[in-house]
Amino acid sequence: MSRKGIILSGGLGTRLYPATLAISKQLLPIYNKPMVYYPLCTLMSIGVKEILLITTPFEEDRYKFLLRNGSQWGIKIKFKIQKKPKGIAESFLIAEEFIKNSSSILILGDNLFYGYNLSSKIKAASKNFETSTIFAYPVTNPQQYGIVNFNKRKQIISIEEKPSNPKSNYAVTGLYFYDKNVVEIARSLRPSKRGELEITDLNNIYLKLNKLDVCFLNESDTWLDAGTNDTLLEASHFIKTIENRQGIIVSSPEEIAWKNGWICDQKLKELAIKLKTNNYGKYLLKLIND
Ligand code: DAU
Repeated sequence: MSRKGIILSGGLGTRLYPATLAISKQLLPIYNKPMVYYPLCTLMSIGVKEILLITTPFEEDRYKFLLRNGSQWGIKIKFKIQKKPKGIAESFLIAEEFIKNSSSILILGDNLFYGYNLSSKIKAASKNFETSTIFAYPVTNPQQYGIVNFNKRKQIISIEEKPSNPKSNYAVTGLYFYDKNVVEIARSLRPSKRGELEITDLNNIYLKLNKLDVCFLNESDTWLDAGTNDTLLEASHFIKTIENRQGIIVSSPEEIAWKNGWICDQKLKELAIKLKTNNYGKYLLKLIND
């Protein structure tokens, strides 16, 4: 059994205006590929093959053009619309039909995870389909995130959304694993003061039910969210540095699909040839030849 994946790629991207007036934030490039490739590859690298992408009414066609139905990468991608950005937790109401009776994973479309063995760590943290798991990461600006308050044994006591007096510097990242009851629980949420169905409220309900685990990511892992002009540029520099130094491509759906055995050599070659005028395509061709 595997979890179903949801990528939330809506929102207005107002913090990036005017860059995002005419295009979705998650379609902007981080260095050499669209931002949405990074969360997509996080899901693929942990074995998720059924994915629902949620976006705005204006962007659906562009995402369909970019990602198609996923069969080129051996996966299934479906699309749904969020009419207005009414909160991250609304994803589960929109995804109800897709989730059915499965456990699920939500990842935010502007979140980038990178690290040695990170996929194995994420997989291991979420083996138990009966509980839910969030991932916490140390940050220098805790006022801007959902923040985990925990005790000496690293058990969570509470989560606060964008606290003015943060009780820790561990932010809740935009990767969330839930059991099969998430739709029902999301239905019980009421909009917050800012008019959104808050993911932090959902997590606090799981916490009260004693069904929320936290996995602490550490210094060897990298978590970036590319929601502002500065973080977008920093993310691009980060990827460029790693790729150029190590001669790799970070978050290539073609490579992950091939390494997972979801597409064969011939298919990878077909996909690579279409991109062969640049380093991305050349890298894919080299994978086969090596
Ligand atoms: O990045 C992690 C943080 O994400 C968490 O620590 C916070 O607890 C969580 O509330 C969220 O905070 P942000 O302030 O970053 O959320 P933001 O409103 O920027 O939305 C994050 C992404 O989700 C963004 O790419 C747009 C998308 N989104 C957001 C909302 C509210 C939607 O597609 N639809 C929505 O309704």
